[in-house]
Amino acid sequence: MSPQGTAPYDEQAAARPPGPLIELLGVSKDFPGGTRAVDDVTLGVETGSVFGIVGHSGAGKSTLLRLVNSLETPSAGRVRVGGRDLAELGERQLRGVRREIGMIFQQFNLFRSRTVLGNVLYPLRLAGTGKAEARRRAEEALEFVGLAGHGARHPEQLSGGQRQRVGIARALATRPGILLCDEATSALDPQTTGEVLALLRRVNAELGVTIVLITHEMEVVRALCDRVAVMEDGRVVESGEVYEVFARPRHATTAAFVGSALHGAPDGEQWERLRDRYPGRLVTVPVVDGEPVMARLSPLLRERGVDFTLVHGGVGEVRGRPLGSVTLELRGGERDVEAVAAELAAAGELSGAGAR
Ligand SMILES: Nc1ncnc2c1ncn2[C@@H]1O[C@H](COP(=O)(O)OP(=O)(O)OP(=O)(O)O)[C@@H](O)[C@H]1O
Ligand SMILES: [Mg+2]
Repeated sequence: MSPQGTAPYDEQAAARPPGPLIELLGVSKDFPGGTRAVDDVTLGVETGSVFGIVGHSGAGKSTLLRLVNSLETPSAGRVRVGGRDLAELGERQLRGVRREIGMIFQQFNLFRSRTVLGNVLYPLRLAGTGKAEARRRAEEALEFVGLAGHGARHPEQLSGGQRQRVGIARALATRPGILLCDEATSALDPQTTGEVLALLRRVNAELGVTIVLITHEMEVVRALCDRVAVMEDGRVVESGEVYEVFARPRHATTAAFVGSALHGAPDGEQWERLRDRYPGRLVTVPVVDGEPVMARLSPLLRERGVDFTLVHGGVGEVRGRPLGSVTLELRGGERDVEAVAAELAAAGELSGAGAR
């Protein structure tokens, strides 16, 4: 598949005003019956980035995504795509915007009656692309997703991962600048999820496609996203750069999501078991890039003559930077141990990370 330089969408890039590619300003969506699915959301998605949206069921994630490709219209606020306010566009122009936005789904939403090639051809024919050109582009898209030679098969003859690849090929066939993914890996096993995420990373890196993805798995955010927004009851309760959100979640919902992806700190039950097993003072020390707690640890132990055993923890990587926590049992003179624990806590608090 050729780079997006040839895409109609990018030809407009020069004419595009500066600012986020996708912009929501105070957007709300009320459904009949009184449900406010999206509540005063303001956010921006930069060109070429991967933006994650997480939240529990019913938080309003899908509705938010549908507002971006104007499958829903906002009850209040503005949605801008490529600098254009969707409310100001006529039906024909809106169809144009929708063509610049591909979408994939949890259940793949393929036509069962059509072949793989037929599925990928569908949006191209809809866009009025000539037969030969459409076929060329469809085959190119299938090759990009690793399904060259599978065009004549039917979706039911494919695995879940292959079906999602067809979904991606179909979404990319018209060379959109934006790909919206609604729980695209939620129906897949972990290995297949990894393969689809790797493919989405190529879509972003090699084709320059801006991706907005919904997920309830922080692992997906960690693997793919530059920025993330956390939704609850229609609102964005927290958003930011992925490492920052993982390292210093501010909202309880965010902390719960992040906790599910970081197996560093002991949970309540583990903490009780550790206390039973280790009689010394237990401290959990966060490992956060650029923060003083870990750097302070070994000189502090030496100064105070305090011994330690590593009893729990783990350090992983988020966006190429270390993140995790370790739990230590400290042993030594009571006052020395308390002084170490207090200083670690202070160093952690200074940086907002905390130690206990
Ligand atoms: N077409 C609709 N008519 C009425 N209510 C709707 C409609 N679509 C969504 N809702 C309601 O809006 C709220 C948000 O729904 P939405 O599908 O956006 O949530 P979600 O975060 O995508 O959830 P899930 O993780 O289960 O997919 C829910 O209370 C839902 O019932
Ligand atoms: Mg949804």
